[in-house]
Amino acid sequence: MEASPPSPPVSPLPSLYTIRAARRDDAAALVTCDRESFEPSDQWATDALDRATTSMTQLTRLAFDDEMQLVGFVVADRSRGRVMKLGVAPRARRRGVGRRLLDAALLALGGCGNLTASLLVDAKNGGALALYKSRGFVRDAGALGAEQHDHRDAVRMLRDF
Ligand SMILES: CC(C)(COP(=O)(O)OP(=O)(O)OC[C@H]1O[C@@H](n2cnc3c(N)ncnc32)[C@H](O)[C@@H]1OP(=O)(O)O)[C@@H](O)C(=O)NCCC(=O)NCCS
Repeated sequence: MEASPPSPPVSPLPSLYTIRAARRDDAAALVTCDRESFEPSDQWATDALDRATTSMTQLTRLAFDDEMQLVGFVVADRSRGRVMKLGVAPRARRRGVGRRLLDAALLALGGCGNLTASLLVDAKNGGALALYKSRGFVRDAGALGAEQHDHRDAVRMLRDF
């Protein structure tokens, strides 16, 4: 019996989502995505989101679907190594978009010379906690920071580069 020919290598399916840095003209779409992704109490003011697309101190990465609709974003503070906001619209959740956005932000934060990345997350936000743990974040066992006193249910998480 003839040996069957070797199978061709399996190439991964192309991702339906594209990640890129934010630009000034993304501001309106970013506001819409923020409103879709967060409860009103966690939404940012329009000028803060506008700033996230232009500020040199912040880095913002956006995720677009195959129709180039904005479905998720991450905003981080370059100099403090802080992930400030990560949101994915409900229609695009559990498809790896949040993980890819977080990875893009961490790559950029590490590239800026930060030794550690940090973030605050609501202790009851099980999905976000699971995501952050899966990317190497651990709960900060240290003393509560001033910002945690402002957000009593917040947990501070850290990840070394
Ligand atoms: C948290 C959030 C950003 C996750 O985005 P996402 O694109 O759905 O996440 P991913 O698909 O990349 O998930 C990656 C992993 O995180 C974990 N995860 C994400 N959402 C989860 C959920 N609802 N429940 C349990 N685990 C979850 C899982 O381990 C998941 O891997 P898996 O799908 O292979 O099991 C999104 O749910 C969101 O925007 N929520 C509202 C805003 C928010 O809470 N932001 C975080 C503030 S700190």
